[in-house]
Amino acid sequence: LADTDLSEEDLLADPVAKAQESGGLPHPSIPLPIDLFEPVRGNSAGVDLNDRAVLADLAAKIARVPVLPAPAEADAGTLIGAAAAAAPAWASVSIDAQADVLDRLADLLEARREEAFALLVHEARKTLPDALAEVREAADFCRYYARQSRDLMQPVPLPGPTGETNVLRMLPRGVWAAVAPWNFPLAIFLGQVVAALVTGNTVVAKPAPQTPAIAAWAVALAREAGVPEGALQLLVGGAKAGHALVSDPRVAGVAFTGSVPTAKRIARALLADDDRPIVPLIAETGGINAMVVDSTALPEQVVRDIVTSAFRSAGQRCSALRLLLLQEDIADRTLEMLAGAMDALVVGDPAHPATDVGPVIDRAAYDKLMARRAEMAGRIVKTVAVPDSGLFVPPTVIRLDSLDQLDAEWFGPLLHVATWKTGELDDVIARVNAKGFGLTMGLHSRIARVAEAVESAAKVGNLYVNRSMIGAVVGSQPFGGEGLSGTGPKAGGPHYLARFCVERVTSTDT
Ligand code: SER
Repeated sequence: LADTDLSEEDLLADPVAKAQESGGLPHPSIPLPIDLFEPVRGNSAGVDLNDRAVLADLAAKIARVPVLPAPAEADAGTLIGAAAAAAPAWASVSIDAQADVLDRLADLLEARREEAFALLVHEARKTLPDALAEVREAADFCRYYARQSRDLMQPVPLPGPTGETNVLRMLPRGVWAAVAPWNFPLAIFLGQVVAALVTGNTVVAKPAPQTPAIAAWAVALAREAGVPEGALQLLVGGAKAGHALVSDPRVAGVAFTGSVPTAKRIARALLADDDRPIVPLIAETGGINAMVVDSTALPEQVVRDIVTSAFRSAGQRCSALRLLLLQEDIADRTLEMLAGAMDALVVGDPAHPATDVGPVIDRAAYDKLMARRAEMAGRIVKTVAVPDSGLFVPPTVIRLDSLDQLDAEWFGPLLHVATWKTGELDDVIARVNAKGFGLTMGLHSRIARVAEAVESAAKVGNLYVNRSMIGAVVGSQPFGGEGLSGTGPKAGGPHYLARFCVERVTSTDT
């Protein structure tokens, strides 16, 4: 920041610098989590989400962007070999030059955003606001990790009590496998990839089978930004390809975001071969994410945040609200207001500017969610109309007798609700913890003591107080969970990059 060559424009384009300038407040250059009801200011992707005409214009433009065909499947072993061969050359590139590549990639993402929007809407069925937020997040990951790596990767001299010199170095591990989900096929995919690259590793990246074209586009963009051809390999395929990738002893680390069963399968594969080095697994999965609401909460704010947290992105976020826990005396009134708010939701074509909730990702997801809805038909207290054709799961509220009745994550717009009585809050948090997940939790209360108690008792990676539970902002809200929700490292946080490195110390007697 002391660099006087930076123009005002540069600073605006750099979220971390801007955050530091403003004393660590949320980055002004990143849109705050986009809300379905509240006006949203323009964002640095240059689009005013509050203006339907602007969104309509964007929808028309992206309709004209050709969508690339999905790339062909490749052999995992061949790609790992290529990434391993490229590792020494990439590791010898200077820290600054590696970080510069990420900054260039962020610039390219912003410059070519309409192509990304088109792919996200057409392949991942994202709504326009979700597509915008995703491109923003992808660019933020690039800039944030670039900045972090310029410090982290420097050798650190350490004092020696006996007069020797000691130097700590952060070094790449080698080839990382990056295994990404379909629900953030650009931001999480690139976040994993650039974290591994900027710490000097090479990468074999496997996108979800549902979103290969977005991944191919992102890889092409990374190469245009300066990632050498060999350093980033794209592995398209399903579970078989994924298994071949993580089982290969040349892979020195795995970054994974997806389901709990897959995370466990990867963990087992990494340990299957007794001769293989012990390699790190960074896993981020899902959660039975609860929002606890007490009788002091502001009803309008609560309802707005429930709708955003449970139904935005058709509930297909690992952070999404699954289990609403209302204090008994406000339950009926809150559910009545929630029903009213849900009537205003527009469910439909994700490319249409008025759409709040699009379809779910594929037929398998649709069938699973609709089967749950049918199973719980007698308990549905609110649902909304959806178009007749297409994979639209109606946003639905399901009332339970007890919070213990929900023991699985339903990855879609199904919100389960239970109530609790005055004096039961500690027990409620303990029972949510006992489910074994620990990703997000929401709390709506105006009592500081309650917020403190929940903060100390809740075993979750991200606690959101008096706001929605989705849309973690890179650098401000590092994201990731514990327990069944993941191994802990937080994407977009200050400690993430270190997990991609080995640490070495040289001590020299002087
Ligand atoms: N990082 C996303 C969010 O915060 C979830 O995957 O909503």
